[in-house]
Amino acid sequence: MAVTLDLDDIQGLFARGYGQLKAAQFTLFAAADQAAARALLSWLLPRVTTAGAFSADSAWQVAYTAGGLRRLGLPPATVGRFSAEFVGGMADPNRSRILGDVEESGPRHWAWGGPQSPPIDGMLLVYAVDQAALQRHREELRGQFDALGIHTVADLDTLESARTEPFGFRDGISQPLVDGLPKATAGERTVPPGEFVLGYPNAYGLLTDRPLLPASEDPRRLLPPDVGGSGAADLGRNGSYLVVRQLAQDVEAFWRYAQEATARPDGSADPDAPVALAAKMVGRWPGGAPLVKAPDRDDPGLGTDNDFGYHHTDPLGLACPLGAHVRRVNPRDSLDPRPGSDASLDVNDRHRLLRRGRSYGPSTAGSAGPNGNGTGETGAGETGTGQTGTGENGAGGTGTGQTGAGENGAGGTGLHFLCLAGNLARQFEFVQHTWLNNPTFRGGYDDTDPVVGGRHPSGGTFTAPARPVRRRYRDLPQFVRTRGGGYFFLPGISALRYLEQLPAGEPQP
Ligand code: HEM
Repeated sequence: MAVTLDLDDIQGLFARGYGQLKAAQFTLFAAADQAAARALLSWLLPRVTTAGAFSADSAWQVAYTAGGLRRLGLPPATVGRFSAEFVGGMADPNRSRILGDVEESGPRHWAWGGPQSPPIDGMLLVYAVDQAALQRHREELRGQFDALGIHTVADLDTLESARTEPFGFRDGISQPLVDGLPKATAGERTVPPGEFVLGYPNAYGLLTDRPLLPASEDPRRLLPPDVGGSGAADLGRNGSYLVVRQLAQDVEAFWRYAQEATARPDGSADPDAPVALAAKMVGRWPGGAPLVKAPDRDDPGLGTDNDFGYHHTDPLGLACPLGAHVRRVNPRDSLDPRPGSDASLDVNDRHRLLRRGRSYGPSTAGSAGPNGNGTGETGAGETGTGQTGTGENGAGGTGTGQTGAGENGAGGTGLHFLCLAGNLARQFEFVQHTWLNNPTFRGGYDDTDPVVGGRHPSGGTFTAPARPVRRRYRDLPQFVRTRGGGYFFLPGISALRYLEQLPAGEPQP
């Protein structure tokens, strides 16, 4: 069903990852008071780039936490109309258990977003063509922050957008095609927009829950009316929930494990085996080719291939293990009921994520890969990532990774994982908890995601189905740790205008 999206009222991140804008910084901020928060928003409003207007030079996006909305003067009862996950925040202790943010990944160890770090009102996402242009925006922003009384909680620097994440694998290949966006061409399977932006039909054919206000709370009629016909003003329409997680990657441990686990009985190394094992863990080769289509070796011709299912070609996981990263986080046609059918894909559509992350840290060129030569067969010398998709979203080209870790960030190397969702619990939290971090996923018993998953202190297991017998890799260390995180709301432009003019209220924490 073709849906008409109000692209001029939706922030651009919904439509694109700004891959062409190779330099980016995510700034977490807090305002001294409501006046400062409003003044910042007034300054930002003309700069915020919409999904309808692509800018080739720079892009600005702004997202708020529940606390940030209160700071702008939104009454707590109105904030309470947003989803419980957003209002409770990512660092809530119950949520930490669901997300696997425990032990070293627990919020009390986070560099930002946890109980030990200052509260965050919002995040500004600034994209520019190159580092020099980004630096100019940074200085402009710093000047405004100083003038308005805005405090920088953390500057999350990113590597220049390129195709490869720090472990050395091509990233940003597979994204849901959203109905109503120009990239969705006729005949291709699309996901309904309500899965990612509020106020439109979702994968159930319903309007996802969103904050609806009595019309009396919007006397100037700034907000769009509820398309459900209730007469309410829709504060959520054209907005999305934004998940942000700083995921530190232990690149050295990843490749050391791949090497040690594949050493021959006499201790000598099999030169191709570490990359082959790592590819089994990811579900794609470093160059991007999916294992279901290229089971034995990387195939540069399939580097961006995304046209496959699992059930008919590889039901047992002999090519792409059932527990591989990409097969867990998007099982495609493997789900009940009736794996291999449209009914299976319909269920899968309810758990999609629109990824918008970028890598951070010193350049990994020359360090990723078992031999310190990039990624084995392909991708040597490429750095950084954008989980920014292809085509208009595409990163294209290679980066040089000129930027280091954020001023207040944790240092190290990793991924600033960002994704948009219409329903945090059903999409991001479900994928993270029930698929990615689930030790009993698809018949495993101690197998969390081999690349990203949490582990017991004693390590985990990765099972690669094979004939005549499956191969079990034991004592997998934890390669990825959470270093910060938060749930944000990326409002539509009308909602930003509404938030900008709220009357002065009680001082908010
Ligand atoms: C540092 C952590 C992570 C790394 C290194 C990583 C790496 C990758 C790589 C190399 C791919 C294949 C490229 C592609 O299909 O676009 C991929 C795909 C994907 N990842 Fe991750 N990822 C990480 C964290 C996560 C997390 C936390 C989630 C979700 C909770 C996630 C969800 C996805 C999804 C949905 C896909 C697309 C799968 C598909 O559609 O086939 N990733 N990731």
